[in-house]
Amino acid sequence: MPLPGKTLLSATRIQKRVRELGLSIRRHYQGKNLTVIGLMDGSLFFLADLLRHLPPETHIECWRLKSYVGRQSTGKIEGLQSCSGMYSGRHVLIVDDILDSGLTLSQARDHIRSQDAEDIKLCVLLDKKVPRTHQVEPHWTGFEIPNLFVIGYGLDLNHQYRTLRMIRSLED
Ligand code: IMP
Ligand code: MG
Repeated sequence: MPLPGKTLLSATRIQKRVRELGLSIRRHYQGKNLTVIGLMDGSLFFLADLLRHLPPETHIECWRLKSYVGRQSTGKIEGLQSCSGMYSGRHVLIVDDILDSGLTLSQARDHIRSQDAEDIKLCVLLDKKVPRTHQVEPHWTGFEIPNLFVIGYGLDLNHQYRTLRMIRSLED
């Protein structure tokens, strides 16, 4: 079956950039206690590849949040009510696959803000160039991309195409 769309970012480019991000994050948090929270399911592969560059003391959590159905955001985040941990005095890094309207990351960040963390930062693989409806400034960004719907490397369309190693765009 032919793959939909065309390649926007090759597997090689993604791996090179993820390594750069991982090393930068490692340097930044040297000597600090770090908890990385990955937003599932989209950041599955990005999170795993990034974590391989981080020290063994790093705490890892996965939060399962959902806002998209098909190619559309529902405008609501489901799943936050069951996400809580011990963040008091810890440096928290939230990792997501893609920043679009900013709704997901802003709500995840605000959820942690109420839980006494020392510091909260954000890391995204992709930053879609769209007007933000929610104010979010990631400290680490892999790639800036145009306003296209993308699949692969964890990103899905109705649960399909996550396993692709490259990122493909469904529009021209
Ligand atoms: P936001 O909440 O509007 O910033 O959207 C972020 C979430 O929507 C991401 O975590 C993805 O799960 C999903 N998303 C946004 N754009 C895309 C896309 O182009 N492909 C696949 N998922 C997307
Ligand atoms: Mg997501």
